[in-house]
Amino acid sequence: MKLVFATNNLNKLKEVQSLVPSHIELLSLSDINCAEDIPETSPTIEGNAIQKATYIKERYGYDCFADDTGLEVVALNNEPGVYSARYAGAAKDSTANMDKLLRELSGDKNRKAQFKTVIALHINNKTETFTGICTGSITEKKRGTDGFGYDPIFQPEGYDKTFAELPLEEKNKISHRAKAVHQLIRYLKN
Ligand code: IMP
Repeated sequence: MKLVFATNNLNKLKEVQSLVPSHIELLSLSDINCAEDIPETSPTIEGNAIQKATYIKERYGYDCFADDTGLEVVALNNEPGVYSARYAGAAKDSTANMDKLLRELSGDKNRKAQFKTVIALHINNKTETFTGICTGSITEKKRGTDGFGYDPIFQPEGYDKTFAELPLEEKNKISHRAKAVHQLIRYLKN
C-alpha cells in the first residue's frame, strides 16, 4: 500500500518509514512529482494539516498524511501558533522569529509555552487527526546549536536544557512531533 507523506524533508520521511508497518510504502512529494506550494491558509494548526492532506488526495489521488506544527506561548495568547513559521515575516527566518519572540516576552515572568503538532491522515475516504504536545518554557536567551526553528529558546518541562542543547535522540523521545507520529503509527498498525 502506498501512502504519501506531504513533506520534502527526507529526514522526516526516513524516520517515519522506519516506524510504519512494512506493507506501507511511504512516498514523498517529489516521489509523486508535486513541486507546488501546497496552500496552508487555515487559521488553525489542525486546519492546515487537514488542508494539506486533502489537497494531495484531491489532486494526486493518493491516500496521504500531512503535519503542521506551531509554538503556543501562554503570555502571548498562544501566539505565534499557526503563524510560527512566518512570525517575523514571509522569509521564514528562524533567527528573526526567535528574536521577535524574545522581544515580545521581554520582562515577562510567565514563560510557559508548548509545541503542538497535528498530523492529518486522509485514508479510505476518512480523515483522522493525531495531536502531539510538548510543554515547556521560553528561555531568556538562545542556548545550544542543535536542532532547528525555535529549538534554542524552548526548554521542555523537566529538563534544564533547551531542545537545541539536547541530543537529537533525546528530543525525538519527548517531542510534540514524536508523540503525534506514534499515534499515527498505532492507528496504521490496527
Ligand atoms: P512546520 O509546520 O514543521 O513547517 O513548522 C512551523 C514552524 O515551527 C517553523 O517555524 C518551524 O521552524 C517551527 N518548528 C516546527 N517544529 C519545530 C521543532 O521541533 N523545534 C523548533 N521549531 C519547530
